[in-house]
Amino acid sequence: MEWFFLLLRTSKNATYLDPNPPFESSNPSDGTILKPLKWGKMSQLFTPLNLNHATTMKNRFMLAPLTNCQSNDDGTMSDEEFKWLTMRAKGGFGLTMTCASHIQEIGRGFPGQMGIFSDKHLPGMTRLAKEIKSHGSLSIVQLHHAGMRAPEALIGKRPVCPSDNKETNARGLTVEEVHELRNDFIQSAIRAEKAGFDGVELHGAHGYILCQFLSSDINHRTDQYGGNLENRGRILKEIIEGIRASCSANFILGVRLSPERFGLQLSEIKEFAQNIMIEGNIDFLDMSLWDVFKKPNEKESQGKTLLEHFTELDRGNVKLGAAGKITNPSEAEKIISQGLDWIMLGRAAILHHNFPNLHLTDPNFIPVQLPVSKDHLRNEGLSDNFIEYMKRWEGFICD
Ligand SMILES: Cc1cc2nc3c(=O)[nH]c(=O)nc-3n(C[C@H](O)[C@H](O)[C@H](O)COP(=O)(O)O)c2cc1C
Repeated sequence: MEWFFLLLRTSKNATYLDPNPPFESSNPSDGTILKPLKWGKMSQLFTPLNLNHATTMKNRFMLAPLTNCQSNDDGTMSDEEFKWLTMRAKGGFGLTMTCASHIQEIGRGFPGQMGIFSDKHLPGMTRLAKEIKSHGSLSIVQLHHAGMRAPEALIGKRPVCPSDNKETNARGLTVEEVHELRNDFIQSAIRAEKAGFDGVELHGAHGYILCQFLSSDINHRTDQYGGNLENRGRILKEIIEGIRASCSANFILGVRLSPERFGLQLSEIKEFAQNIMIEGNIDFLDMSLWDVFKKPNEKESQGKTLLEHFTELDRGNVKLGAAGKITNPSEAEKIISQGLDWIMLGRAAILHHNFPNLHLTDPNFIPVQLPVSKDHLRNEGLSDNFIEYMKRWEGFICD
């Protein structure tokens, strides 16, 4: 008879059977212990995932990049940011991603944003990477530049954009500046590796600068960085190649894309996604769907969900995942069974720092319902600045 492993909490009500023995990596660091028991229902979410460039994630849960306004004003790490993130690593996320971290001062999008544009950020980031990894979680920095979405009041000058943008008063970059931008993304990845991070994700979504380059509505350049899709995607591909050439062979590289809005066309984003997956220089593609169950906005593409538009692509060795309104274990199970390699939690991870461990212990656990109290969020490791920021999300906080 085959024997497998039951993950048993020290509490009496543990019930979760898992057949994938005895994956040391998912031995949670919060007191949960493994005990052998009989075969039970297997959750793919708790099986390890081999990434393209030779690193293994202990389970399929990624912490979404979440801007939290908790860094010091110069972008250096604060104790609050450290605490919020390391709690999630401890809570069982196979991969813990930082918030968007700006790679140039002019690319700052938020007050209290984490920075990675200077060596002054190294000590804080080194401390963070070490602690995340001590919990068996992969550590990833999201590399970001807000471009035309950088508030002028915050950066003290006109923001920049692939080409002039009247609405935001942003000025177009010269070709030398485009090269500088590319090089600063690469330098920031090198800095992340120096700090001990396992990898980086390039923020190519949500209308920020890499997304601005991809958008035919926003990017009106007439040189090799504008025009057709190949040209609009050139900077992103040069950054990918530059990071691959400059960082270790097993350094993890992910890319986040939006499938629509911001002047993007779904068909173009699919083509670009297909292209970078087949080229195989990245480890994972992160589709920011905001709602994994949603149909596309474009009428002609509504025959399937946004998710299906991407799971149908040939991904080669690249691992595909998505974020958007995965709020409880049954939705998590449903989405992973729809052809993704991993899932990403944002708000659900704000509400429960240990969502993966709770899910592992009890697949029927019911997350706290919205809106939640400030005290709940404080207990989940959010500082007052982050709690204040969360007020932007209607219906999230009740007091
Ligand atoms: C408070 C908050 C901050 C966010 N910050 C970022 C960010 O820094 N970078 C990014 O790519 N997405 C960011 N997002 C989007 C999330 O990563 C995620 O894709 C989105 O919240 C949908 O997932 P969810 O429904 O699980 O929250 C943010 C979302 C929230 C709610």
